[in-house]
Amino acid sequence: MIRKGTIDDLPRLDELARIVARGLHADGIDQWSETYPAKTDFAKDLYREGLWVDEENGVVVGSLSLLPDVDEVYRILKWPEGSALVVHRIMVDPAFRRQGIGRRLMEHTVRLVKAEGFSAVKVDTHPDNKRMQAFLESFGFRKVGFLAPIFRVAYFLRLEE
Ligand SMILES: CC(C)(COP(=O)(O)OP(=O)(O)OC[C@H]1O[C@@H](n2cnc3c(N)ncnc32)[C@H](O)[C@@H]1OP(=O)(O)O)[C@@H](O)C(=O)NCCC(=O)NCCS
Repeated sequence: MIRKGTIDDLPRLDELARIVARGLHADGIDQWSETYPAKTDFAKDLYREGLWVDEENGVVVGSLSLLPDVDEVYRILKWPEGSALVVHRIMVDPAFRRQGIGRRLMEHTVRLVKAEGFSAVKVDTHPDNKRMQAFLESFGFRKVGFLAPIFRVAYFLRLEE
């Protein structure tokens, strides 16, 4: 079940982020760490009303943050036309992967983005994070370019009317 994140979810999200970050590093992907994303990052997303979680049998097993397109670094690329919201910090508990939870989180995002009157979604990921890239490409996200200052590949999805 996907629902808005609450302050009570923050300890679990911090715990999940550590598990996910260690998994990324074990897979040779230098993304996330012991201190990022942290409770404070999720708390900021919550404050900005952009925190969403997936709960299965009373336990949060996935989350993402959906935020306004305000990151200065994104301005260095020429993006396709379209007003966008940006997905940050998407994660699914490794024990629950490949069960469609990420897909459900993203489908929920698409509905929200449309409902709020936007026409596109932006996201960035590490060049070595091939799993995330395959995940994004399965939704039709297109690579827009490389965000060299943050060492991330940028992706864009224009939503159907
Ligand atoms: C990326 C992530 C969120 C996907 O979550 P998930 O719940 O496993 O994804 P789903 O089961 O909904 O997969 C949807 C589709 O994405 C693609 N996909 C997902 N994982 C994949 C993998 N390991 N290899 C190739 N394709 C993959 C497939 O097309 C899949 O559809 P299919 O299972 O019908 O083939 C998850 O792997 C994750 O948490 N990764 C670590 C955190 C991370 O890297 N976050 C991004 C930081 S920018």
